[in-house]
Amino acid sequence: MHRYKIVILTSGHSRGSNFVAIAKYFQKRNLPVDIVSVIVTSRKAPIITRCEKLGVDSHFISAKNMLKYQTELQEYIKDNKIEMVVLAGFMKLLSSDFIDGINIPILNIHPALLPNYGGKGMYGMNVHKAVYYNKESFSGVTIHLVNSKYDSGKILCQQRVKIKKAKTPETIGARVLRLEHKYYGRTIYNYLKEYYV
Ligand code: GRF
Repeated sequence: MHRYKIVILTSGHSRGSNFVAIAKYFQKRNLPVDIVSVIVTSRKAPIITRCEKLGVDSHFISAKNMLKYQTELQEYIKDNKIEMVVLAGFMKLLSSDFIDGINIPILNIHPALLPNYGGKGMYGMNVHKAVYYNKESFSGVTIHLVNSKYDSGKILCQQRVKIKKAKTPETIGARVLRLEHKYYGRTIYNYLKEYYV
């Protein structure tokens, strides 16, 4: 049976909670998906310890120069026959040359209901604070394909959660994160099956 090969991209000091949830989702269900590595942009990223615990390789590529980063990553993807790139806490924009060049799906997860609360600067607590101060009744998670603009690719999965009674932006963040962990692994696997029929 074919085993899908994917890589996960992270930035700087990513927590890695989505990576852990994704890896456990595949492991628990014995799904034919191999996380070939987690690409890190800092040799001191806390996620490296989480990789070791789960028996997944981490691979360092410097992101100081994004052109070099993308060239190296493109070679890595080709050499390792990677079939999907998964962003989890990856903050930078990828160029259309890179996206067209690798010609495999790239997925991202955003902690809000796109197209609302997306775009440049909208990440982490910035998102949850904006949602909170606008007194929204719902927030949620969006998993989408990546193009060369922030948060604007085709939506593959969107799930909402009630936040009317949330007392702080942190409470909203925690509720949304639970949804992220629940849906990212399954959306990745479903899309792999759909794309590589
Ligand atoms: C998540 O909130 C995700 O929505 C966003 O970056 C964060 C990464 O968190 N794109 P973690 O490193 O997976 O814990």
